[in-house]
Amino acid sequence: MTQRRKIAAGNWKMFGTSGDLPELVAIGQAAAGLSGIETVLGLPATLLTRATGNRVSLGGQDCHAAAQGAHTGDTSAGMLADAGADFVILGHSERRSDHGETDDQVAAKAQAAWAAGLTAIICIGETRAEYEEGRTLDVLRRQIAGSLPEGATAQNTVLAYEPVWAIGTGLTPTADEIQAVHAEVRAMLDAQLPEGATLSVLYGGSVKPGNAAEIFGLADVDGGLVGGASLKAADFVPIMEALAQA
Ligand code: PGA
Repeated sequence: MTQRRKIAAGNWKMFGTSGDLPELVAIGQAAAGLSGIETVLGLPATLLTRATGNRVSLGGQDCHAAAQGAHTGDTSAGMLADAGADFVILGHSERRSDHGETDDQVAAKAQAAWAAGLTAIICIGETRAEYEEGRTLDVLRRQIAGSLPEGATAQNTVLAYEPVWAIGTGLTPTADEIQAVHAEVRAMLDAQLPEGATLSVLYGGSVKPGNAAEIFGLADVDGGLVGGASLKAADFVPIMEALAQA
């Protein structure tokens, strides 16, 4: 089997202005010295054109499902690609909760991303209540079935498992829980898609320099989607290094 892509992805969310670009430059310089991993930063759309030319791949954090049109305030996948992005994060839990995004909408956006030549980083994850009720796998199964269109391949799609209750909280599942969920997710992908087992599956939710090596050492974890700890090179570079060494 071909080796799965190892990806250290950052998600800057609604943080960052031009004064923060030196952090990105430093992350790019570190990325140039690491082999075997892809480094991606999901930036605010306003920074994309100013961030090109560094050794880090760029991503948007959302796109519209249409190629263009009368959609005030929205950004198309083609616009992100034109601005220098190769990736787009889709279906993040903050999009699902802040904007009511459904699995169907996420799937439509993924197809728009592919049409523009972008790799879609599609996010799934259970809430705290769903976790406590033991419904994690049911939720993930429904989200995978609904959010990943037919035609998803290891080249055009990356999946990110992010327990909603672990995002920005400093809490994470145990390593055993993360591995068990990732193994189940991989089986779901394998059952749903012809090349499903080859897709990279990232873990996200309070990944930090101190826990990255343990998480990335798990058999079915192919990298991370990192929020707060991706904003500063001093935090993100050790996470990239932990992935390169895993
Ligand atoms: P966090 O965010 O690393 O700050 O928990 C992860 C994410 O939302 O992708």
